[in-house]
Amino acid sequence: MQQNKEDRKELMRKIKDEVVALKKSPLYKFRIENKNLPVIGEGSHFAKIMFIGEAPGRNEAKTGKPFCGRAGDILNELLNFVGIERSEIYITNIVKDRPPQNRDPLPDEIKIYGPFLDRQIEIIQPKVIATLGRYAMGYVMNKLGLELELDVISKMHGRVFDTTTSYGDIKVVPLYHPAVAVYNSHTKDQLKKDFEILKTF
Ligand code: URA
Repeated sequence: MQQNKEDRKELMRKIKDEVVALKKSPLYKFRIENKNLPVIGEGSHFAKIMFIGEAPGRNEAKTGKPFCGRAGDILNELLNFVGIERSEIYITNIVKDRPPQNRDPLPDEIKIYGPFLDRQIEIIQPKVIATLGRYAMGYVMNKLGLELELDVISKMHGRVFDTTTSYGDIKVVPLYHPAVAVYNSHTKDQLKKDFEILKTF
């Protein structure tokens, strides 16, 4: 379904309201106790490219904005490298609340927050989904009928997978998570190479 700017804003606001009130989430108590915020997403509701990460970290949960800590600095650097503005893309995560100690998201958490991500994809209708890290890769590829193509991320990163959604044909590009590049310059060089692919869209 095509929606105008106001429709999309309203649908996103609804998602935000539901996540804010998501008492049944195993991460809700931790959010409240730590005065954290859920992180819904940021960017253009008409983005051609949607980036999907894992879950908010400390900085993200304090500000309510995705990728604004160290991993965010790397992401910004990679976007700059290929000349993509943050304002023209949409950035979100599978899990919308910060897990304690930034541990990996648990299956139950992915199950609770996944449907919000599904709705965000339907609202924005991106032509390209770039997944950051193995959790986003696994979730998106399973969701979009690419489960038979799944392999370890070292074999998947930088490849382009074609699939069809309810709103048309799209491409899925699995990428390493930028956090891995914080201490590993080899991964950063690889990420730079992989990001070049996004320029072609
Ligand atoms: N890592 C993620 O996966 N998402 C963020 O928003 C920040 C760090």
